[in-house]
Amino acid sequence: MSFDEKLSARVAEVEQIVSSYLPKEEGYQKTVLEAMNYSVLAGGKRLRPMMMQEAYRLHGGDGKVIEPFMAAIEMIHTYSLVHDDLPAMDNDQYRRGKLTTHAAYGEAMAILAGDGLLNYAFETACKAFEIAPGVHTAIGKALTVLSRKAGIYGMIGGQVADVEAEKKGLRIDEDKLMFIHAHKTAALIEASLMCGAILAGASGEDVRDMETVGYNIGLAFQIQDDILDVTGNEAELGKPIGSDEKNDKLTYVKAHGLTEAAAQVEKLSAEAIALLQKNTLQDDFLIELTRALVHRTK
Ligand code: IPE
Ligand code: IPE
Ligand code: MG
Ligand code: MG
Ligand code: MG
Repeated sequence: MSFDEKLSARVAEVEQIVSSYLPKEEGYQKTVLEAMNYSVLAGGKRLRPMMMQEAYRLHGGDGKVIEPFMAAIEMIHTYSLVHDDLPAMDNDQYRRGKLTTHAAYGEAMAILAGDGLLNYAFETACKAFEIAPGVHTAIGKALTVLSRKAGIYGMIGGQVADVEAEKKGLRIDEDKLMFIHAHKTAALIEASLMCGAILAGASGEDVRDMETVGYNIGLAFQIQDDILDVTGNEAELGKPIGSDEKNDKLTYVKAHGLTEAAAQVEKLSAEAIALLQKNTLQDDFLIELTRALVHRTK
């Protein structure tokens, strides 16, 4: 099987799991449930749940306890996109090849759909307690990581710094740029790999290695996202290009230019791969995926 065939099979597997945890569209809150499901089902690469499942298998996990966590990370990631696109934030109209949630359902429903997805993510992850009564400590540890990496010391913290760093012209604060990328993007990728390892019962050292791999992949991923905002193709990307320039964002490309940005994506990805090639952590799919992301066009 080629890597592309393997990847399509993984995406299909993840989508089936994530969809099975989405709420039914019924009751007086039906509109927000539709907006939540619209946002999650719009598509997307499903990288975070895929990486989580892979980290779980890599560390010897073979049960179903990972599944509610896979759905949860995709709900949290999707909520971050719904809020990121709001008029008060990046003010974008297209996402995953469709109208953004606020463009399709209005701003109030988009705010509530984001809130709904964030909260439902934790309701969903908590279903792991019923699925695997024997591993409550691991589930508790995974919830601790997931909540922290999504919150003010993780993704939300990065989004705060991202918004505050807008419209500063060419004044580049390198430290802040790294903070933004590490938090708004790497944090959820770290959480994905760490939760997979934790739920499989990995050692503290192996979980820390997963965090480092996630940090490197995450930083590379956001730098590539900044590159694609300049060089990408809207139809392929499924979201507008030029959004960063429109908002005068502090991006890696603005700070260092396209050539250095591309070199940095290569370097960070190579560091992630080197760690994945350590004997105990050898994982062909994750390595191939990391390599493929270096030259991604969407
Ligand atoms: C977009 O993430 C937001 C960033 C962190 C750059 P993805 O590029 O993973 O978005 P989807 O899930 O594939 O739509
Ligand atoms: C967003 O960064 C990261 C999130 C936490 C959503 P961007 O604002 O660059 O993401 P895109 O380009 O809109 O997907
Ligand atoms: Mg943004
Ligand atoms: Mg954005
Ligand atoms: Mg972007």
